[in-house]
Amino acid sequence: MSGRSMNGVSGMTHRPLVALLDGRDCSVEMPVLKDVATVAFCDANSTSEIHEKVLNEAVGALMWHTIQLSREDLAKFKSLRVIVRVGSGVDNVDVKAAGEMGVAVCNVPGFGIEEVADTTLCLILNLYRRTFWLANMLRDGKKVSGPEHLREAAAPCPRIRGDTLGIVGFGRIGTAVALRAQAFGFRVTFYDPYLPDGIEKSLGVERVYSLQDLLFQSDCISLHCSLNEHNKHLINEHTIRLMRPGAFLVNTARGALVDEHAVAKALKEERIRAAAFDVFEHEPFSLSASPLKDCQNALFTPHSAFYSDASIRELREHAAAEMRRAIIGKIPEALRNCVNAEFLQLPGNHGHSAAGGTAARSAAASAYHPTAGLSANTAAAIAALNGPGGGAGAAYPTGPYAGLAPLTDRDALAAAAAAGGLVSLPMSLPPVITSTPIAVSQAAAVAAAAAAAAAAADGHKGSGEAEH
Ligand SMILES: NC(=O)c1ccc[n+]([C@@H]2O[C@H](COP(=O)([O-])OP(=O)(O)OC[C@H]3O[C@@H](n4cnc5c(N)ncnc54)[C@H](O)[C@@H]3O)[C@@H](O)[C@H]2O)c1
Repeated sequence: MSGRSMNGVSGMTHRPLVALLDGRDCSVEMPVLKDVATVAFCDANSTSEIHEKVLNEAVGALMWHTIQLSREDLAKFKSLRVIVRVGSGVDNVDVKAAGEMGVAVCNVPGFGIEEVADTTLCLILNLYRRTFWLANMLRDGKKVSGPEHLREAAAPCPRIRGDTLGIVGFGRIGTAVALRAQAFGFRVTFYDPYLPDGIEKSLGVERVYSLQDLLFQSDCISLHCSLNEHNKHLINEHTIRLMRPGAFLVNTARGALVDEHAVAKALKEERIRAAAFDVFEHEPFSLSASPLKDCQNALFTPHSAFYSDASIRELREHAAAEMRRAIIGKIPEALRNCVNAEFLQLPGNHGHSAAGGTAARSAAASAYHPTAGLSANTAAAIAALNGPGGGAGAAYPTGPYAGLAPLTDRDALAAAAAAGGLVSLPMSLPPVITSTPIAVSQAAAVAAAAAAAAAAADGHKGSGEAEH
């Protein structure tokens, strides 16, 4: 055992369960977390696919954007204390409900900014320079010879220099897009009602104070606002009518900002000349099921704007590091990017860690997630949350195999469980195992788990809380 400090308590032996909800690969996260947590993955598309053990015992959840956590979904988790979005948008989590349930929600706001901004420019340039369509034309075997042919193939093809790019949402990515667009000769203007005055001066761009003005002035509109309860279908039948006839539209922000039916109609009528989308109301994108399927003047990418080898690694490392801070530090103080601090209801306003806490935390945990009726394992897991000062219980094996859950054989797992060892069980069906590399033979692991559990039970005799 590494004797890793949790919540500042050196030598504490409990290992909280952290689950990656909608993915399988934890190879980047494991090195960051393995000495403080048991890491499992669920590969689920919805909470109905998440194994009961994770719902009962996970104190931390890592999640991509391919699963939704509504209030009802969140209520299924009995021990959850922190969610870290492996990404920046948190529109797939009810952050208010999470806060009210005492669950901190964090994101990784800085990741992939260069990539999304570069992709946005790539899409804008494609709309202006028609690269995608011209390249496809040649691939389809068409010959383009001479200026007449070229005009037929490429027109209408406006010059960029002097055109106005209207940016909706001037945060990290919107700003990065503005800087790049200036280099291409765009006049840049933005609309963002939440920013204080002055940023336009720093960056040498123009600012408007209504969406109507932005749509009216822009030759190309690029969406970069966060999705929230106020701006669903920001681009709709009504706002499309406010756009310049023949304007371009680019969306690399969130699909639900756009009413795809209304945009499809406008594209077919060429009221919107052409559009490019990286994000969609329903993902993964399926052309045949999309209202945009017959729009030849639309260009699609599969929510890939953020992706590069470097950005994805950085993103995952940062997400895991935030989870680590939650486990070994106090919530919310230790968190760098908590997005629901305003809603976060913590017991007595005291910070707590995901891994352990105070006696007050213990009481509060019961209040939020009553333990009555829960399985012995779950009760033990909750007891483990309380740490040495606030309760008793060792929910996870200690010793050299703690945090290592290499078993794939269900019988061996059952044997270990029967022997009292809470090794990590396969998390969902179809079978999913924890992502820790297989380090020992199954028999050795079972023996180690059983021995560890027995030692833990000895250590907590008389507490009456940790039943294995
Ligand atoms: N396609 C991808 O791969 C990808 C990757 C990362 C982020 N994103 C999305 O890009 C968008 C921007 O991300 P960011 O990191 O720059 O976020 P950010 O929080 O830094 O900036 C968002 C800005 O939008 C503004 N805003 C909110 N509602 C608005 C509205 N109704 N009108 C105008 N402005 C509004 C906010 O004030 C904020 O300044 C988000 O929607 C995010 O989910 C997409």
